[in-house]
Amino acid sequence: MESAEKTIELADEQATEALGAAIAACLAPGAAVTLTGDLGAGKTTLARGAVRALLGQVEVPSPTFTLVQTYETPGFELWHADLYRIEHEDELDELGLEDAFEDAACLVEWPERLGPRLPERRLDVRLSFAEGGGRRAALTAHGEFWVGRLEQI
Ligand SMILES: Nc1ncnc2c1ncn2[C@@H]1O[C@H](COP(=O)(O)OP(=O)(O)OP(=O)(O)O)[C@@H](O)[C@H]1O
Ligand SMILES: [Mg+2]
Repeated sequence: MESAEKTIELADEQATEALGAAIAACLAPGAAVTLTGDLGAGKTTLARGAVRALLGQVEVPSPTFTLVQTYETPGFELWHADLYRIEHEDELDELGLEDAFEDAACLVEWPERLGPRLPERRLDVRLSFAEGGGRRAALTAHGEFWVGRLEQI
């Protein structure tokens, strides 16, 4: 499957939210985005920027305890998942994530927990801490849909 990569410097929290907004502009039913990075790297901040780009200044809580927050957007349902607390893969079935990967747009923190359920076609966003307090985002697009959109992000 084709893939492409890109790195973006994120000087501050607003830049992380803006990257989320740019990714949101690419979303469609069945589009998956993984958000990887250490605790505090900015995964939820990016997801918040994406949700607010689509819905305005709504409350976007971290799904740390609920595992999933869903949002109704004009074109599709948007899932924001944080799988950190998943211990067994059966819990993923209960969440209904596999159906969501088909029909909804999904932003997934801690995608490592998905194991073989990780969608092949996806945008991977790996956030790391940069010198000076900012962050760096390494994006990898897998499959035609995301490779075609990477340039506009
Ligand atoms: N580009 C940036 N530069 C500096 N600080 C940032 C940047 N992006 C986000 N932050 C800050 O990083 C902190 C942690 O962000 P966030 O909660 O989004 O991390 P997370 O990756 O979701 O963490 P967790 O794994 O605990 O869920 C927040 O205080 C946020 O303001
Ligand atoms: Mg988080």
